[in-house]
Amino acid sequence: MPGDKSVSHRALIFGALAEGTTEARGLAPGADVRSTRRMLTALGVEIQGDASDVRVKGRGLGGLQPTTAALDAGNSGTTMRLMMGVLAGHPFASRLIGDESLSRRPMERVAAPLRALGATVELSPRGTAPLTVLGGKLKGARVAPAVASAQVKSALLLAGLHAAGVTTVVEPAATRDHTEKMLALFGVKLERGGLAVAVEGGSRLTGARVEVPGDPSSAAFWCVAAALAADSDLRVNGVMANPTRTGFLEVLSRMGADIRREKSSERAGEPCVDLIVRGGKLRAADISAAEVPGLVDEVPILALAAARAEGTSRFSGLDELRHKESDRLAGIAELLNGFGAKARVDGDDLLVEGSARLRGTTVDSKLDHRLAMTGFVAGFLADGLTTVLGAGCAEISYPSFYMDFLSCIA
Ligand code: S3P
Repeated sequence: MPGDKSVSHRALIFGALAEGTTEARGLAPGADVRSTRRMLTALGVEIQGDASDVRVKGRGLGGLQPTTAALDAGNSGTTMRLMMGVLAGHPFASRLIGDESLSRRPMERVAAPLRALGATVELSPRGTAPLTVLGGKLKGARVAPAVASAQVKSALLLAGLHAAGVTTVVEPAATRDHTEKMLALFGVKLERGGLAVAVEGGSRLTGARVEVPGDPSSAAFWCVAAALAADSDLRVNGVMANPTRTGFLEVLSRMGADIRREKSSERAGEPCVDLIVRGGKLRAADISAAEVPGLVDEVPILALAAARAEGTSRFSGLDELRHKESDRLAGIAELLNGFGAKARVDGDDLLVEGSARLRGTTVDSKLDHRLAMTGFVAGFLADGLTTVLGAGCAEISYPSFYMDFLSCIA
């Protein structure tokens, strides 16, 4: 698997804020992580190496250099939101921009709590990028973001590192905890209890070695394809098995998929597993709103699994999907219905009626990488020809996906 995208962004950003050198190996190969690297370079950070293995020369907390050029996060929400938190701790103005999709995504969820810490953040009238962060003297506070988002939590912890006193973030529901785990790897002590996490301002980061584990969100496409294709027998090695990311495995198991996990060595402080998947028949499942943060990026491919399962599946509480690289809630329903499946949005829920057959169609990816790859797997399972429009956007997270997939079909 390509390296995990969330861990890769953090390895670069924390390396830039650390004292000493950070060596990261096996970074995610996609355009999103390149956006983070480019932005850090523009802020004076020296990063050597190729796309996957790098040495980052840390500049220490508050050590980034101002630039008058706009900082371009491309398609990457993680780059923009985490860097908003970092730049809030720097006493200069920075302008952040993104592509068309990122410029539609909500930024007030980060801006409001950053203002509570003392930063000045100006958004476009729609509450989006282009935006300006004027950082400076921050004061630690207890903040309770309204949305369950690891990006928001991480931005606040990063700002908190630059603030005076303690910053405590209380989440409405547990989200992926890579920031917490990786800060520990860089020597920062955090207080964690229930849904709260606290960081002491001025805690120093020390450069670290980060072996990036395989990306479970990328592995999910393979797992669903193999679980649905007759006679398949798949092994995926070195997949990160942080419980805040493996919700899709629990759901697939509930659906009756034959998936085994074999423990493999830990990387970057994260547990990893080898996955062994065999093809078979699936049954419908209900996915509760509480489960969504643990599988938020895997809903498109799980919905495809539901479209081929026996019975009707309900995915509850998917409002957050409307704010991803595209409106994924509408996009998934449209994609599945295009293949002749029956999917419909009911409030914030998605209902998918399973059926045995899918028929090939033309899929509009809406330039959303996870919809493009879901469309491709659906096309592989469907009768007849499928065309995925804008398929190249898989470049965002998994550039070799189609070629890797074709090389594995007997
Ligand atoms: C991410 C958090 C999630 C996820 C995104 C990566 C992260 O976003 O969808 O792909 O690395 O923190 P939200 O925090 O908006 O849920």
